[in-house]
Amino acid sequence: MRRFQKVLAIETSCDDTSVAVVGHDGRVHSCVMAGQDLYHAKYGGIVPEIASRNHTHHLLPLIQEALDQAGIKLDEVDGFAVTSRPGLIGSLLTGLVTVKTLSVTAGKPFVGVNHLEGHLLAPFLTDTEYAPPQGFDFPYVALAVSGGHTTLYRVDGFGRYKVLGRTLDDAAGEAFDKFAKKIGLGFPGGARVDRLAALGNAARFEFPRAMLKDERDDMSFSGLKTSAARLFDELLDADRETILREAEEFLSTKQAKPGLLADLCASFQEAIVDVLVARLTRAATREKMERVVLTGGVAANSRLRARVVKWAKESGKTAAIPPLRYCTDNAAMVGLAGVIRLNLGETSPISLGPEPKAPLDQEKSPRG
Ligand code: KG4
Ligand code: ZN
Repeated sequence: MRRFQKVLAIETSCDDTSVAVVGHDGRVHSCVMAGQDLYHAKYGGIVPEIASRNHTHHLLPLIQEALDQAGIKLDEVDGFAVTSRPGLIGSLLTGLVTVKTLSVTAGKPFVGVNHLEGHLLAPFLTDTEYAPPQGFDFPYVALAVSGGHTTLYRVDGFGRYKVLGRTLDDAAGEAFDKFAKKIGLGFPGGARVDRLAALGNAARFEFPRAMLKDERDDMSFSGLKTSAARLFDELLDADRETILREAEEFLSTKQAKPGLLADLCASFQEAIVDVLVARLTRAATREKMERVVLTGGVAANSRLRARVVKWAKESGKTAAIPPLRYCTDNAAMVGLAGVIRLNLGETSPISLGPEPKAPLDQEKSPRG
C-alpha cells in the first residue's frame, strides 16, 4: 500500500486560490477555488499585491471547505503539496507559509511542486464526471497554454519533461487578454472573445500566423497583437458607432451576436488557434507520439478544443483535454504531482522558498 493515500494541496501561484484533496491514484476527493477576476478587472491585469492579499483571505476557509467536501479531517491527510514555483513571489509565499504551518501542526511532510508539472499531469486526474481517455499513459506531446505560459513539451514519463518550443514573446492567453482589452471587452477577456468568435466569420480579416513555416517549435504572438490593435483602430475610425454599440450590447446583455466585433474576434482567434494546432500536431507527428495533451486556461477555448479533437480523430491519435476545472489553475493537479513525489520519497525542507522562475525540464523524478 502506498504510504501517502491522500494529500491536501494548495495552489496560489498567480491569482486563483485553490485547495484540493487528492488520492495517490489521481482521484480528486475535492477541489475548491476562489477566483479574483473582479478584483483585477479594473486594473486591466493582475496586480500582484492584490493577488497575495486575496490569497490570505481565501485560504483558510477554502482548506476547511476542501476537507469538508472530501469528508475527512485534517489529521486524516497523509501529507501536503503546494505550488512553490514558478509564479508571483508574494502569491507563492502565501501558499507555502500556509502549507508549512499545516505540515508542522499535523506532523506530516509536505512537498513543493512545479506548477507546470501539475498542468502536464492534469489529464490523469479522475472524479465522478471525468476520467482520462481509455488507456491514457505516457509518452505524449503536451501544449500548456495559459495567460502566463505557451510551451510545447515532450513528456516521456513522470519527471521526464523536454521543452520542444515556447512562445518567444506573449503567451497565447496574454494575447487573447490584451486583444479583448483593446476592443473593449475587459479583463481577462479570452473567454469573451471565444463566445463572440463562435458567431463570427473567421475569414473576414487577415491576421499574421508568425513562424508557421519555421523548423523550430517556438511561437510568437506579439506581431498578431500589434496587427490586431492597428486594424481595430482603423475600424474605429471608420465605424466607431457600430463597434461601441456591439461591445456595449454584448457586455450588458452577456448575449453574443453576429456582427463586426464577432468577425474580428473569430478572425483573431483563428490565427492563434492555427498556430497552436500546427505546433502541437506537427510535433506529435515528428515525435511519433500517439497521444497529445492540451492543458492550461486557453485549453478552455472551444475552437482550439474542437480543432485538436478533430485532428486526433482524423489521424487516429488520442487527445486528452482535461475538463475546464483541471485546465485552469487548480490545486488538484498540484496534489497529483505532489502525491506522486511524496510516494517516491521526496519531501521538502521547512526552509523551502518560492521560486518565481523554474523551467520544468529541470524537474526530475526523485528516483532519477
Ligand atoms: O491557466 P489559467 O487559468 O491561468 C494562468 O494564466 O496561469 O489561464 C488563464 C488564461 C487567461 O489568459 C484567459 O483569458 C484564458 O486563459 N482563457 C481563454 C479562455 N478561457 C480562459 N482564452 C481563450 N478562450 C477561452 N475560452
Ligand atoms: Zn497555470
